[in-house]
Amino acid sequence: MKILRAMELEGTSPYFRAMQTANSPRINMDGCPRMMLGSNNYLGLADHPLVIEGARRALERFGAGSTGSRLLNGTIDLHLELEAEIADWFGTEAAIVFTTGHQANLGTVGALVGRGDVIVSDSDAHASLHDAGKFTDAQSVRFRHNDIDNLAEKLAAAAKHGRPAMVTVDGVYSMEGDLAPIDQIAEVCLEHNALLLVDEAHSVGVLGLNLTGVTELYGKAGKTPLRTGTFSKSIASTGGFAVGSHDLIDAIRTNGRALLFTAAGVPAAVGGALAAVRLIRSAEGQERAERCLANARFLRDSLASLGVPLAEPAIGPGGAEAVTPIVPVIVGESLRAFAKWHELYERGVFAALAHYPAVPLNRAMLRLAVTAEHTFADLEEAAKSIHTTLELDVERQLVV
Ligand SMILES: Cc1ncc(COP(=O)(O)O)c(C=O)c1O
Repeated sequence: MKILRAMELEGTSPYFRAMQTANSPRINMDGCPRMMLGSNNYLGLADHPLVIEGARRALERFGAGSTGSRLLNGTIDLHLELEAEIADWFGTEAAIVFTTGHQANLGTVGALVGRGDVIVSDSDAHASLHDAGKFTDAQSVRFRHNDIDNLAEKLAAAAKHGRPAMVTVDGVYSMEGDLAPIDQIAEVCLEHNALLLVDEAHSVGVLGLNLTGVTELYGKAGKTPLRTGTFSKSIASTGGFAVGSHDLIDAIRTNGRALLFTAAGVPAAVGGALAAVRLIRSAEGQERAERCLANARFLRDSLASLGVPLAEPAIGPGGAEAVTPIVPVIVGESLRAFAKWHELYERGVFAALAHYPAVPLNRAMLRLAVTAEHTFADLEEAAKSIHTTLELDVERQLVV
């Protein structure tokens, strides 16, 4: 905490920076124009006129606040419309909308497991899935990241003791941008009768034929009983959701503490999300998803051609290379990463900085993420700035 305060006083902290403009590729931050390469606005919908209009209409019709839980007075027609739209999109019997994606995971896991059960999570799963385990009476264990044999061992151990298991994974991992091999995970879960939950936070809107995420990309939507997601990335609002059978969603609606004991999302957030989901399901959504992934490929190629160290490319179905909006530049040691982050910021590029424990020790990274709205010229300029920023250090070392 003291380090954060010291960096803030010095003006070098990468955290809690304030923007003076809407989220888009060119922003104003700390009063200066900069390129935004550190958002999750993958489809560029955060300032889309139709999404703003959806939010505005909801605000004008339903007011500013929700003033209560979904259970009591917080549900408005738009929540129900959005749930019907999401269930139809994902091809499931039902959907439930939460106030945030973090709460979607807490509420879903918490409603469905309890004493005597085991939650088996990928070690790199999002904090909200690990937090979900802590908020239940179930035992939480982790399997090694994307290691299917290790997952099978953990499930076999649970079965040996007659303990029902739930498996929780991210579809796309938020820091490295790699994919969970959902085909193998779904099969292992079926073999061991485990309930699989895939968090599609970083894949909804960008992957799969209908853009519902990684599970669809792997053709396993029918074999995955539960999927969760957030509105805070491609869907360009705030909120979260879970989809599944009527029985599972009813269990969440009646037992999900993170749903029942917090206020419903505000009307503007729900209206904006509904407009964004409809847009994503239109031809424009497909076109934006294609542009976003083309941009990610372009940025990755540009950086690689300049010799900038990157995380390994993601692997998708059939072992083929997969593209996600996330392009991690590996910097290494944390202090160096903080210094590099600041140099890049001074050059006018905002990136997200991830360091231990969000990523393994000495694997600190500039976690870049593109949007559909970046141009190749933007990305070329950013790649050059990143190259110069990282190169400077090499030159200094040579001088020393
Ligand atoms: C994989 C994953 N799941 C869940 C969340 C939480 O979503 P929200 O920001 O809506 O709380 C995030 C957000 O960073 C995420 O990356």
